[in-house]
Amino acid sequence: MSKVTVIGAGNVGATVANVLAHKDIVKEIVLVDIVGDLAKGKALDTWQQAPIDHYSTSLIGTSDYADTANSDIVVITAGIPRKPGMSRDDLISTNANIVTSVVKSVLEYSKNPIIIVVSNPLDVMTYAAFKASGLDRSRVFGMAGILDTARYRAFLATELNVSPKDIQALLLGGHGDTMVPLPRYTTVAGIPVTELIDSEKLTAIVDRTKSGGGELVKLMGTSAWYAPGAAAAQMVEAIVKNESRIYPVCAQLTGEYGLKDVFVGVPVRMSKNGIEDIIELKLNKDEMQLLNDSAAAVKEVMDVFDKM
Ligand code: NAI
Ligand code: 2OP
Repeated sequence: MSKVTVIGAGNVGATVANVLAHKDIVKEIVLVDIVGDLAKGKALDTWQQAPIDHYSTSLIGTSDYADTANSDIVVITAGIPRKPGMSRDDLISTNANIVTSVVKSVLEYSKNPIIIVVSNPLDVMTYAAFKASGLDRSRVFGMAGILDTARYRAFLATELNVSPKDIQALLLGGHGDTMVPLPRYTTVAGIPVTELIDSEKLTAIVDRTKSGGGELVKLMGTSAWYAPGAAAAQMVEAIVKNESRIYPVCAQLTGEYGLKDVFVGVPVRMSKNGIEDIIELKLNKDEMQLLNDSAAAVKEVMDVFDKM
């Protein structure tokens, strides 16, 4: 049974811990925050939910990295979230320092963990964590694609009046306005979505997905946490249960899709070693162009980080 550390006990981190505890698949969750009492309080609250919702996963909250020793998986949500009017890229300098220092502290106590990054700007923070860790690229990756496809699937479910359970979809690219939802790889219970919805409506849903994070920031004054937390917990589940799930995940590309030294969302097979394979789709010219544009946008911000 695994030990999972979640860094950052704010909206997203506390949700990851809570959703993961409910899955009852790991032995222990350690919730870390610079505000130690916040982490302690949220861990205790989720532990007190265990007798009601029937799970055995134990939880502790702390600000001491010694408590994270020998973690199998570490989820990083530490950082500041977006406020209305901010882009994810506005967070770069603050969150890059936080992510880099968090990774160094984690590695003092856990030698070869799998690291899942959630902090924004996601693709560049995944790069920052990879760089700070020196771990293999199969063990450091970012959560965004599961959330972005979930938004796309939810919008489609509403439009088509079907269960979101029956919608399968893939998405490529960075976690930002240049993300690339793929209608050609979207099905409703196996039926190509293009047979069920006209192209104008589909384009509107793709566009709404691209700004799906911003829509919630406008509504709530801060960014989302329920779906993001559940998405990160689902990645942990695939690893802990050695499931070989196919998920869109932010990974370092080293030639796949003709792209090198850039972190963007691609479909991967996820199992006990983290990213087992990167799946290369046969993209058409337009899809390839969109992916190239998205990768170029991420690369620009990676360069900003490199020069910091
Ligand atoms: P939040 O403000 O509720 O929580 C962040 C927590 O990080 C705070 O409790 C803060 O005390 C803690 N923190 C700050 N510096 C720290 C450090 N050095 N060590 C440990 N803890 C530290 O923010 P929220 O809503 O939980 O968002 C967290 C991050 O996740 C943000 O960067 C946000 O943009 C990002 N995010 C990413 C998503 C994705 O799809 N990848 C989706 C939603 C949010
Ligand atoms: C989201 O997409 C802000 O990245 C965050 O909700």
